[in-house]
Amino acid sequence: MARKPTEEKNIPTTGHEWDGIKEYDNPMPRWWVWVFYATIIWGIGYTIAYPAWPISKSGATPGLLHWSTRGDVAAEIQKFTDMNADLNAKLASADLTALDDDAALKNYAVQYGRATFATFCSQCHGSGAAGAKGYPNLLDNDWLWGGDIETIRTTVTHGIRSAADEETRIGDMPAWGDMLEEEELANVIEYVVSLAGGEHDAAMAEAGKEVFADNCAACHGDDATGDRDLGAPNLTDAIWLYGGDRDSITETIKGGRAGVMPNWNAKLSASQIAAVTAYVHQLGGGE
Ligand code: HEC
Ligand code: HEC
Repeated sequence: MARKPTEEKNIPTTGHEWDGIKEYDNPMPRWWVWVFYATIIWGIGYTIAYPAWPISKSGATPGLLHWSTRGDVAAEIQKFTDMNADLNAKLASADLTALDDDAALKNYAVQYGRATFATFCSQCHGSGAAGAKGYPNLLDNDWLWGGDIETIRTTVTHGIRSAADEETRIGDMPAWGDMLEEEELANVIEYVVSLAGGEHDAAMAEAGKEVFADNCAACHGDDATGDRDLGAPNLTDAIWLYGGDRDSITETIKGGRAGVMPNWNAKLSASQIAAVTAYVHQLGGGE
């Protein structure tokens, strides 16, 4: 069917006309107009009910429903905190040496400990806990201060050479550069290199053995296997905290060393410390 030309519909125009093209003044469809008003009313209602108008740098109108995405997250976190409250209380006061008897608690501790380690410990000890120069590997059974679970808890709780905690672990590796003669230094360095099987001058090492007995054995032991009460490392196992090449050993002996770890009781809860301890203990080197 042919459509009628629009002129015959007798529709009023707005009076606008460009190059003979006129603008018709058609009314908006009813349904459209009602939807339009409805959205305005809905919009006003929304800004009253929900957070909307920024009124200052610090915030916006809170809305009558007092809902916020931040509140949602807080509620979610609170839900899990409540769910784990009993486990955390149990863990904080648990005798960790008996943790193996409680499979559920141990499982929780290790999972929680893994997350805690990733957040607070991995910067220094590495995400896989393998350590780096000056930061001990926590995967092996070579321990400076001891690897049974309660000893690890003490280390983590009070830190190492941490000025903020009176009960922190203390042990000095003095700088020998000015305290020994050049020759004594050269000899004792040779002796330390020889201890872990490095290539060395046998005569110098033999002389260095005496320097070691006089100056070093008090901390590192007569047989140089270390002393955990002082955090003095075993020098015979070829596992080096500060490097085992001659240059690194020379630097260590001449300049001294004093690795520092913060005391975690200032930052972590008792249950977090217990959890991260359980995690470290089961990594492979736990005693
Ligand atoms: C700021 C760096 C740093 C952070 C973070 C850190 N540590 Fe340490 N940690 C060290 C240093 C350095 C040592 C070695 C200190 C020394 O020379 O005796 C150490 C030693 C240890 C030891 C003793 C190892 C041994 O052989 O006896 C344990 C266990 C340990 N850290 C666990 C942790 C845990 C668990 C965390 C996280 C809660 C953590 N560390 C976070 C720096 C850090
Ligand atoms: C008063 C105790 C003490 C005496 C004495 C001492 N040391 Fe140490 N030594 C330590 C401690 C503690 C460390 C660990 C330092 C650290 O963890 O930061 C250490 C670390 C070392 C290391 C680093 C080991 C590694 O794994 O990188 C070497 C090497 C070493 N000492 C050699 C010597 C020699 C040689 C002498 C004697 C000339 C000596 N020490 C005397 C306490 C002592």
